[in-house]
Amino acid sequence: MDSDHMMPKNLCRQSLPGKSQSLWISTTMQTGYPALEGSRAADVAILGAGMAGLTAAVLLKQAGLKVAVIEADRVASGVSGHTTAKITSAHTLIYDYLISHFGKERAQLYADANQAAIEHIAATIKEKNISCDFSRTFACTYTEDERNLDKIQAEVKAAKRLGLPAAYADTLPLPFRIQGAICFTNQAQFHPRKYLLALAASIPGNGSYVFEASRAISLRKNGLYHIKTSQGEVTAGSVIVATHFPFLNRGLYFARMYPRRAYLMAMHVQGDRILEGMYISEGEPYHTIRSYISESGEKFLLVGGEHHKTGQGEDTSLHYQRVEQYAKERFEVESIDYRWSTQDNIPIDRVPFIGTFTLLSRQLYVATGFGGWGMTLGTVAGMILSDLILERHNPWISLFDPSRLPPFTSAKRFISQNLDTAREFTTGHLLHPPEKRSFADLTEGEGAIVQVDAERIAAYKDDQGQVHAFSANCTHLGCVVNWNSAEKSWDCPCHGSRFDYDGKVIHAPAIKDLAKKQ
Ligand code: FES
Repeated sequence: MDSDHMMPKNLCRQSLPGKSQSLWISTTMQTGYPALEGSRAADVAILGAGMAGLTAAVLLKQAGLKVAVIEADRVASGVSGHTTAKITSAHTLIYDYLISHFGKERAQLYADANQAAIEHIAATIKEKNISCDFSRTFACTYTEDERNLDKIQAEVKAAKRLGLPAAYADTLPLPFRIQGAICFTNQAQFHPRKYLLALAASIPGNGSYVFEASRAISLRKNGLYHIKTSQGEVTAGSVIVATHFPFLNRGLYFARMYPRRAYLMAMHVQGDRILEGMYISEGEPYHTIRSYISESGEKFLLVGGEHHKTGQGEDTSLHYQRVEQYAKERFEVESIDYRWSTQDNIPIDRVPFIGTFTLLSRQLYVATGFGGWGMTLGTVAGMILSDLILERHNPWISLFDPSRLPPFTSAKRFISQNLDTAREFTTGHLLHPPEKRSFADLTEGEGAIVQVDAERIAAYKDDQGQVHAFSANCTHLGCVVNWNSAEKSWDCPCHGSRFDYDGKVIHAPAIKDLAKKQ
């Protein structure tokens, strides 16, 4: 990817401010659950220790089942540790869309499920006495463009039809002018890792387990399910795949949603006042704002957004710079303390996939496609999947069923998404010239695609001048990966797999590391 020609005139590459780590990860202890070794048995194996997996695990254990949570990395260190941690049913502008594409009845299910998730989180915090800086507040979607006021007004009307606590606002407690907004009352925010680490801590014991650093590499059914990791195996009657992006290709989830990256910064602003409320702008790219007060009373403002399709577009550092610019134009920023990025899966019909993995699957379940709203939708997923396994009634199952027929209007998005993937595959292999002619052309700290004989090599030269070289073919379905300069990773433009600079997989659907080259 040669991004120089795409660099906006008012931004140029520069070192980025703040510590490159999520505020949530930086302010909590690292967990130390054991890796899976040998053979274990459980009633339910849950792959992925984020919001969906841990919520399901807690509910299933409470119902008397033995669960084994298997996490490729560390508990709540993936997307759940990199979120804005807004607990809300205000998912930008969605209810007018849902009513017109799915009908009022199914839009009602979406509203009810997300409102119930807010209350489920609040009740869990109370019941388990979790200290996670939870506070009730309002959530607003605003526009700074008066041409979009009609969309806001249509959303207010739709949300009110569904009985949601929504109202129109023409001013907000933000230090910049907006044209209009829709605000939901009685929503909430918290520190996501404090909540999730407490959930995880309640799981081990009485035949239940949490395993970390154990990436599932295969799954087969032979009466029971056998889930294999590099060092051990779990057998279980049921399996939940809550790995953010499913690592199994069955169900073709990679063709039914697309991955997108977004950026967040935590900063100090002038003055003692803490901004009340949570905010997101409508439109593309969106911007998101909330505040956070730590246990010790330290006040942060979080500003983020500037999303783009994973592995596509310009130099990723520019997205951070735009977030910084957006914040500085609107707030009296004193310092930027943390910066981090995250990845969301956007389903083509905007409704997550929660339920039985495929029509033919038995006792194999999936939760994916939360579209950036994983605090509530991940909780919804945990509630639905535990009810399915426990054979309990759950009113929301039909809406989120992965085998549902998407609305007819989604067909266009399905075609365009898959054409985009095909284009990325072709461009990467046939059309895009290599970025460097040899490893010697790389500067220290730089990654690029280098042509060596007939092969494309993903090469990164570290600060000591050592070159880390790998096949540029993504181990999922073979697209050519692109260098992400802000995170020092190789990102696949087709379905969002990511690999660190040393070729190790950090984001599914790929499960194998990039092939090493000398
Ligand atoms: Fe599918 Fe890379 S993620 S080809």
